[in-house]
Amino acid sequence: MIHIKVPATTANMGPGFDCIGMALKLYNNLWVEENDEDLIIINKNPNVTIPTSRNNLIYRSIFRFYKELGIKKRIPGLKLTQSDDIPLTRGLGSSAACIVSGLLAANIISGVNMPREELCTLAAKIEEHPDNSTPALVGGVVIGAYSGGKLEYIKLKTDKLKELKFAAMIPDFPLPTKQAREVLPKQITMTDAVYNISRSALMTAALLQGDFSKLNIAMDDRLHQNYRMNLIPGMEQIFSKARKFGAKGVFLSGAGPTVIAIYQDGGFPDSMRQALKSLPNKWECLEIEPDYEGAKVEIT
Ligand code: HSE
Repeated sequence: MIHIKVPATTANMGPGFDCIGMALKLYNNLWVEENDEDLIIINKNPNVTIPTSRNNLIYRSIFRFYKELGIKKRIPGLKLTQSDDIPLTRGLGSSAACIVSGLLAANIISGVNMPREELCTLAAKIEEHPDNSTPALVGGVVIGAYSGGKLEYIKLKTDKLKELKFAAMIPDFPLPTKQAREVLPKQITMTDAVYNISRSALMTAALLQGDFSKLNIAMDDRLHQNYRMNLIPGMEQIFSKARKFGAKGVFLSGAGPTVIAIYQDGGFPDSMRQALKSLPNKWECLEIEPDYEGAKVEIT
């Protein structure tokens, strides 16, 4: 039996569009067993609906691994048991977690045993957003850049993150990434490019050195958040309330609709929960921690 546990992720972290992301302690668990019969998929979480046919994203990712690597062997019959606690289509990397789970499973079933660094490139190619798939695989805050088709990444080595608290404000409506990307401009001005480059560098330095006084400025963005605001009723109010309640930084998680706030004052979640009551769409405030280790695989 193979047990694979993959964390949720928050991509972009404000200015790091498509390149900076962080893993979070919410998990997609997958148990894989070889099975004489063809394919059985069991969903252990009654709160979510996932396809239990070959259309299942984990199974499609296993298939894709075989295809990308040109493996001629047929995929064996499998029993896949999934328990997914990551809210679906909310900007918390639920698809990336399924893709990474499938690739890690295929890596073992096929006997390829590709090193994790190479899996990061493959996962980013399939997921299309390295800021989700890379932290899901290696944990922590990760910065990634493509070079000649290869993903080069660095995971921040810092204990300073442990001084911060995180809250995810999650509404009851989904926002497909495709839709949230369609509203983005095809071109941006040099001013906006400089705005984001300077902030993503400032944010990285702030997180490394623990200088959180600059996070609110550093986590601002001009490449995606404003364009997506119209798709997310309540987002603007949550940003403004988070700052009012002393958040050190606030940003859209991935393509949204989840908003994440960074804070240090323990009263933040209660104040935010109170404020969320006045908004439609049943926003909840979930206190959450970074995951520092990334995906885990256990073979028994
Ligand atoms: N960086 C991607 C985006 C993440 O913001 O569209 C998608 O999950």
